[in-house]
Amino acid sequence: MSDTHSDALVFFGATGDLAHKKIFPALQAMIKRGRLTVPVIGVAKAGWGIGQLRERARDSLEKFGGGVDEEAFAKLTSLLSYVDGDYADAATFAALRKLLGAARRPAHYLAIPPSLFGAVVEQLSKAGCTEKGTRVVVEKPFGRDLLSARALNQILLGSFDEEHIFRIDHYLGKRPVHNMVFFRFTNALLEAFWNRDYIKSVQITMAENFGIAGRGAFYDPVGTVRDVVQNHLFQVMANLAMEPPARTDSESIRDEKVKVLKAIPALAPTDLVRGQFRGYLDEKGVARGSKTETFAAVRLEIDNWRWQGVPFFIRAGKSLPVTCTEVVAHLRRPPAVYPGCTPQHDYFRFRISPQNEMAIGLNVMDEAELGIGQTNELLASRHPGSNEMDAYERVLTDAMSGDRTLFAREDYVEEAWRIVDPVLKADTPVYPYEPGSWGPQEAVRVAPPEGWYDPDVAV
Ligand code: BG6
Repeated sequence: MSDTHSDALVFFGATGDLAHKKIFPALQAMIKRGRLTVPVIGVAKAGWGIGQLRERARDSLEKFGGGVDEEAFAKLTSLLSYVDGDYADAATFAALRKLLGAARRPAHYLAIPPSLFGAVVEQLSKAGCTEKGTRVVVEKPFGRDLLSARALNQILLGSFDEEHIFRIDHYLGKRPVHNMVFFRFTNALLEAFWNRDYIKSVQITMAENFGIAGRGAFYDPVGTVRDVVQNHLFQVMANLAMEPPARTDSESIRDEKVKVLKAIPALAPTDLVRGQFRGYLDEKGVARGSKTETFAAVRLEIDNWRWQGVPFFIRAGKSLPVTCTEVVAHLRRPPAVYPGCTPQHDYFRFRISPQNEMAIGLNVMDEAELGIGQTNELLASRHPGSNEMDAYERVLTDAMSGDRTLFAREDYVEEAWRIVDPVLKADTPVYPYEPGSWGPQEAVRVAPPEGWYDPDVAV
């Protein structure tokens, strides 16, 4: 372990949903890979003891971690301890300091609502748990608009410097999203046409075929734009649109991503169509008459040398026909030289999930050889290997070792909010749509000129 590696992992919200679904599976995977050898301390207010937390960890691994690996689980339980207490109570943090023992530069992972960040950070500081080298890892959503994100940053910057703040966006930990930048800048092929001279439009779809799955209380104050557009899908867009970094260190890469956002004008209400699936209002935790969107379609421009004039479209929604995240970039139409054949736009398709695909759609002679042509795909497809790192394993491993590449920097987060802020406040209409459909009809208002490309996923 290097002398900058975190020497303990403290996670707040240890009894919560995120820990159950994502964190324990990530911890087991890190142990199996030999990447977690330091004390792990869970903190929560649940009236639990360590025995219950262990049981919860076992249940989490059975349900979400691909099963319990007894050897790794034994190691996890030997590293795991637990503090039960209120986040406003100094005694909770005194107990934590005691458990940290000789650890001097822990990583504090705040898997808790942002409204609690201030109290926790202040108490950590008072209890002497924020010595030099300590890291803080925070979950999205990072604020709910530009002002609140700035206020949160001020809270964190009061006790940590930017270098030690890790804002998680787990989409960045997904291998295909991570690979996007690598792929673009290690091959000549894509870069040769990846600009306004050849690309006509770019669309990103994140479709989920389930509703809010019991998360009404979380989701209703948030909505699709805040939940996945401002963060996950902007990150995908930034990876697609950024310039090659001068070097590959975290700051050089993050500098380029911020430049993409800086070139995007703030959205106007006409750039957004919001929808809500029928039945949403009956979900537990949803306010009566709520106008929260469960679907959003957005049109935006990246007003820079490479992309000016190429519209980017982002569409995301719950209760759509399939679960799939995919990018499709249409190229400009080639001239028609064969009489009777209007060639289709070639396209580059990049599927992030459920499996990773890259495809190029090209015009070929049609089956019947009538000379009208048809589109065929050159397709490369891969399914994640069983030993592949999950997004949470990747981001937690990186946070512990201090690699900031896959985390959102303060200026990036603020730029992202600047872009969506006006439409969040504009009170645009919310159109109903049927569960299992591709969202409200009105989404055509912000559709790409080539139409929305609905991912074709075997269901
Ligand atoms: C989360 C959102 O950040 O990402 C969820 O809060 C969404 O609403 C989820 O379902 C999608 O992530 P993944 O990794 O399951 O595709």
